[in-house]
This record gives sequence, C-alpha cells and structure tokens, in this order.
Amino acid sequence: MTVTLTDSVKIGGLTLKNRLIMAPLQQYMGTPEGYATNHHIEFYGRRARHVALVVVESTAVSPNGRLFPSDIGIFTDRHVEPLRKITDAVHAQHTPVFVQLSHGGRKSSPEVTKRLIAPSAIAFDDNYGTPEALSLTDIESVVMEYRLAAKRSVQAGFDGIEIHAAHGFLIHQFMSPLSNKRTDAYGGAPENRARFLKEVLQAIREEVGRDYPVTVRISATDYAEGGLTPGDWAIMLKPLESGLDAIHVSTGGLVPVQPADVYTAYQLPHAAAIKPHFGIPVIAVGKIYTRSLADRILGDRLADMIAIGRPLIEDPDYAERLLMTRERQDDGERLTVLK
Ligand SMILES: Cc1cc2nc3c(=O)[nH]c(=O)nc-3n(C[C@H](O)[C@H](O)[C@H](O)COP(=O)(O)O)c2cc1C
Repeated sequence: MTVTLTDSVKIGGLTLKNRLIMAPLQQYMGTPEGYATNHHIEFYGRRARHVALVVVESTAVSPNGRLFPSDIGIFTDRHVEPLRKITDAVHAQHTPVFVQLSHGGRKSSPEVTKRLIAPSAIAFDDNYGTPEALSLTDIESVVMEYRLAAKRSVQAGFDGIEIHAAHGFLIHQFMSPLSNKRTDAYGGAPENRARFLKEVLQAIREEVGRDYPVTVRISATDYAEGGLTPGDWAIMLKPLESGLDAIHVSTGGLVPVQPADVYTAYQLPHAAAIKPHFGIPVIAVGKIYTRSLADRILGDRLADMIAIGRPLIEDPDYAERLLMTRERQDDGERLTVLK
C-alpha cells in the first residue's frame, strides 16, 4: 500500500497521527540564564495542532554548550519548570513533543561560554577561536551532562529526545575526521569517532530506559573533501541502531562551507542514501513544502517522515494547509494543489 503524509507511523512505541514533524527552530528568545519564556510557550503551542510531533529547538545540556546567548538550556533543575510550560502547551493540542539536546562544542557562543571545548584543538573559524581538546575526564563530565539533561527532559514532560549530532556541534565534531584528530579511543577509526555518541546514547538510555523515544539528528554530508558522507554515517550509526528510534537527516555545518545551491528537497538524496541501511524510520527535511512532494517521497520510500521548519515560522497554520491539500483520487485527478 502506498504510504502518504496522513498515514500514522511509530517512533519507538509512540504512535504519531501523521508523518509531518515540526523541525527544531531556534527562537533566540531564552533568558540570559537559558530559561524558556512566554514566547516559547506561545510559539510551540500555536504550531502544534496539526503536526504529528513538535521537536523543540536546540536546548543546551551545558552552560558551556549554548550556541547563542539567547538559547534555552536544560542544564539545571531550575530549567525544568519553564520547559514544562512548553510541553503542557503542546500537549494541550494533543501532540507529542521532543526536546533537542545539544552541546555546541567548538561552535558554542563566545559571549557566554567560559570554556570552549572540542574533540581536538581545531577552531571552526576566527570568531569562535581555538577550543581546548577534551580530556578523558572532561568527556565523562559532558556525558554526565547529557544524562542529567535526559532526566530533566522526562521531568519536563517531553515525550522523547532528539540528540543533536548535526550542524557541526559537539557530537558531529567527534564523528567527522575533519574536526576529530584524536589518537585515543575517541578518534581515528569510525568506531572510535562514534564512541562519544555511543556513550551519550547509553547514558541517556540508562536514565530513560529503552521504551522512551530517542532519535538522532545528523548532518549526512560535511560538504567538504575528506568530510563525512551518508555511507560513513551508516557505518557509524549501524551499531547504535538498537538504541535509536529514528534518524533525522540534515546536512552541513561542520566547516564554514555552504551547499552550492539550496533547492527543493536539497537534502533528500542524503536521507534516501541513509534509509536502506536502517530498519528504524528516517526523517527527511529541507525545502519539502508541498503535499504532493511529501507524498511522493513517502510513496517512493525515500524517507518515512517529513519535517518542515521555515514555513511554520511565518505561517503557524502551514501544517494544516499542507495536510488538507488533497492529493490524487483513485481516478488520478488532482483535487487541489498548494498555492
Ligand atoms: C531560524 C532557524 C532556526 C533553526 N534552529 C534549529 C535548531 O535549533 N536545531 C536544528 O537542528 N536545526 C535548526 N534549524 C534547521 C531546521 O530545523 C531545518 O532543518 C531547516 O530549516 C531546513 O528545513 P526547512 O526548509 O523546512 O526550513 C533552524 C533553522 C532556522 C531557519
């Protein structure tokens, strides 16, 4: 049977009412301490109704891991209550909500980061400056920060966690040979570069158990010679698949190189290249803005779910219009198309 956007799907044990996900979208509206505000409650609550799942923006597991000074965080127990107001607002619309747990590593905000850390002492660019290479004890501490963040995610009422391993942030820095030049157990062979993610995932699992949905967002390509490809990610993620519930496929951000062109579904080939390697669902994202395109992607089994970001910023009702746009009837006639 042909799968379409309105068909339900499961992420782990969680059944989603359709296959449209709200992608994480930083709001740059946290307090200086990293608390979520009324803006977040309104923003997420207003967009939650028609999507099957809301993924809340990059949320820092460490005070040293914020991407921007106005990021929200989850690095103390005091962060839980403001986040709980977001999950309440989304749940009021009968939609589940995940938190995206992140650490910026060498791309943490210079304004609010006391200690810039990374797998190796290699700068992203002059603005961020050169990070300190993490010691083994430092790695243990950061893994613990993820674990505590996972505990607080459950306390805040989130229905799942998306581990941010994309866009050149700390986990991605470990995965890519361009930013990871370590010669210990965390560098070199793919299995070693994936060790940090493996430990983060294990720590999260120890806290939340196997049944709680945990997904990972990756940058399938570094858009740079010698950088990661979907094939590399497949090799590194395959051993972790049993602990993961979905893979969300984005691209870029590791080095200051942009994709040559950002066209409709520009990241889809990367999701499609990842998908055959895994039994868990793969989420495609990036300029997939019409129902017909989404249905085509799902129908052709290039991905299992579609995430949308930017259209929801300007138009909180975009998901409703996207879902209500009818595709083909049995006779093949197109009923309506998106404007
Ligand atoms: C303003 C803005 C904020 C974003 N914040 C995040 C974020 O916090 N975490 C993340 O992984 N991606 C973030 N993204 C990327 C989006 O989740 C999404 O992958 C990207 O916008 C492409 O999808 P789209 O074409 O549907 O917008 C952000 C994008 C924008 C435009």
